Amino acid sequence: MNFTAEYADKTVLVTGAAGFVGSHLVDRLVELGTRVRALDDLSDGDLDNLRLSENRIDFIHRSVADPGGLDDVVGGCDFVFHLGANASVPRSVERPDVDFESNVVGTHRILESIRRTGAGPLIFTSSAAVYGEPRTPAMDEDHPRTPISPYAGTKLAGEHLVASYCRCFGLDRRTVRIFNTFGPRQRKYVMFDLLEKLRKNSSRLEILGSGDQVRTYNYVADTVTAFLLVGVHPDARDNVYNIGGTRTISIREVAALIIELLGIDPPEIIYTGESWKGDIQRLCGDIGRLQGIGYEIEVGLEKGLRRLIDWHAEEYSPPWARARSSTRSGGGSTCGSP
Ligand SMILES: NC(=O)c1ccc[n+]([C@@H]2O[C@H](COP(=O)([O-])OP(=O)(O)OC[C@H]3O[C@@H](n4cnc5c(N)ncnc54)[C@H](O)[C@@H]3O)[C@@H](O)[C@H]2O)c1
Repeated sequence: MNFTAEYADKTVLVTGAAGFVGSHLVDRLVELGTRVRALDDLSDGDLDNLRLSENRIDFIHRSVADPGGLDDVVGGCDFVFHLGANASVPRSVERPDVDFESNVVGTHRILESIRRTGAGPLIFTSSAAVYGEPRTPAMDEDHPRTPISPYAGTKLAGEHLVASYCRCFGLDRRTVRIFNTFGPRQRKYVMFDLLEKLRKNSSRLEILGSGDQVRTYNYVADTVTAFLLVGVHPDARDNVYNIGGTRTISIREVAALIIELLGIDPPEIIYTGESWKGDIQRLCGDIGRLQGIGYEIEVGLEKGLRRLIDWHAEEYSPPWARARSSTRSGGGSTCGSP
């Protein structure tokens, strides 16, 4: 999907811009010819994630919860993509106060600035975590919201705040609930953890939980496409969309797929049985509403995993990448991209 006509020459704010999803969104907007204001407090982001676009954006090192307000950053923006938040469930269990400040107070500050300056639309980033334990195999947007972690509670509070501003002040808001997204620059969560564990010891792989936890993973470029679509589609105003993949897969199967793509000997796999507090066994989204406005997955799980593996090989030089490059420099045949 090409959004040049909608985003070229526009001024766009991305909060959480130095994070995983935010930095990919920034790169795509820059490619589209957008003037990007990229805000991040670098509490969890990394400026290196913005390396590709660093000379073509305005980077603002500030918190969304800045008590001094954000009018100077928000004012004049044609779109506000608000992703800046603590994005870790386990961390929210340890430090709920941080989540409240960044995710609730921060969202309030963004809304106040939009209200004062007339910027927008606002694309608010919520999470599939707001659903809590699933009552249906694939959750659509009307599934009950019963958060079971402080993180999920703050995301749902953010959704309500945004919706209330929309009703009271007539703001244009669009909410997305992201299911697990993966890809290059994500240095946490299951895909990255599996690659890192294998890099350190490719003969033994420990998997948290039973391995039967299932997800509908989405590749980050596909998630970015969904953001851009929701930002401009006329039906998306005042609406909520799940963003996720379409393939339901267990962590056990993800591990098997990664091992196959790496082309390494199968390691011994150990399941810890116990997972982390707040982990949800089945987290699968129904993305029918998003598909109804034209969303299509372009990269998908397997191609996305190949891209993740390539990035990981460049960044961390794992044994399988070293073995391939020495085979190449020795002039022998290679099995190509994993
Ligand atoms: N990646 C996923 O699978 C997923 C799933 C559900 C929801 N989300 C949501 O998507 C958004 C992006 O997630 P991500 O995976 O890129 O996480 P991330 O941690 O990589 O990015 C979040 C960014 O927000 C920044 N940030 C945190 N608090 C801030 C503050 N007070 N002011 C300014 N910046 C702040 C961090 O420094 C970081 O760069 C988050 O809102 C997250 O809750 C992500």
